[in-house]
Amino acid sequence: MTPFQPRHLLTLRNLSRAEIERIFSICEDLKAKFAAGVREPLLPHRVLALVFEKPSLRTRVSFEAAMAHLGGSSIFLGDDAGFGKRETVADFVRVLSSYVDAIVFRGKRHAVLEEMAEHATCPIINGLTDQSHPCQALADLFTMRELAGKLAGHTLAWVGDANNVARSLAEGCAKLGLRFVMATPEAYRFETDFLAGLKAENPGFDFEVTDDPIQAVRGALAVYTDVWTSMGQEREAEQRRRDFAAYQVNAALMSHTQKGAVFMHCLPAKRGEEVTDDVIDGPQSVVVQQAANRMHVQKAVLAWLLGSHGG
Ligand code: CP
Ligand code: NVA
Repeated sequence: MTPFQPRHLLTLRNLSRAEIERIFSICEDLKAKFAAGVREPLLPHRVLALVFEKPSLRTRVSFEAAMAHLGGSSIFLGDDAGFGKRETVADFVRVLSSYVDAIVFRGKRHAVLEEMAEHATCPIINGLTDQSHPCQALADLFTMRELAGKLAGHTLAWVGDANNVARSLAEGCAKLGLRFVMATPEAYRFETDFLAGLKAENPGFDFEVTDDPIQAVRGALAVYTDVWTSMGQEREAEQRRRDFAAYQVNAALMSHTQKGAVFMHCLPAKRGEEVTDDVIDGPQSVVVQQAANRMHVQKAVLAWLLGSHGG
């Protein structure tokens, strides 16, 4: 007998365009119901485990709240679970997935997420690794869709480090037909392999990289930035502050955007580094809407992965 192969969400490359659109349409439905005071119990008695090796506000709370709204529950496993220390990853995951219906992993190394997926008998969801942050990118693209009505043909301008969030957004843009322009210093760009793979899988992908933030933001629907130093890179912080100094998103840069353009950030932000207070708190900023959408999109991901949304 072939063992049951659960569906995972490891990166956006694992999803087809139709699947992303399906998740968005479930999200739209659940978000509207939530706004009307309806919390549909689509996952009664289901249990979600969250295994986190790094700190979190949004990812942890939005998943836990999502599970509670859907009629299920969640168990948070931090340092004291001894993940990666007391036993092998395989043993940990085989056992954990016999207790719960899905696992969210926030990890230091993407390879460990992949190892978990190999051994799990329930879906594994990437809650951020050094390589990618697909749930964040789904919420961001859903936010842009809310703002623009449709996504294809629009431009997302990324200003800063080609990090985990940037990788997932690039994957999402490639799938959904958005142009992805990045202003990034040469030493901090995407690896050649990553980009070549993405272009090969999405032949129409409109990608551009420049060292000129002004050129990048012109004509963009969204200007997106993230911290210059991600979790785990703290030792490089000083060097990075120097290398990214010309890539700050401030009022001067935003003055080159087109009418209706928005400012986006996954949060948490290092105000005064990658973004100034006037921009992140200003009228173009949609950072709170993005963060709020994390919960709605993840409800849709959970309902989709666990096959409980009939519509
Ligand atoms: N954006 C995001 O993932 O935030 P947390 O690190 O707080 O989860
Ligand atoms: N790039 C950031 C994202 C945090 C949500 C990090 O990995 O620390």
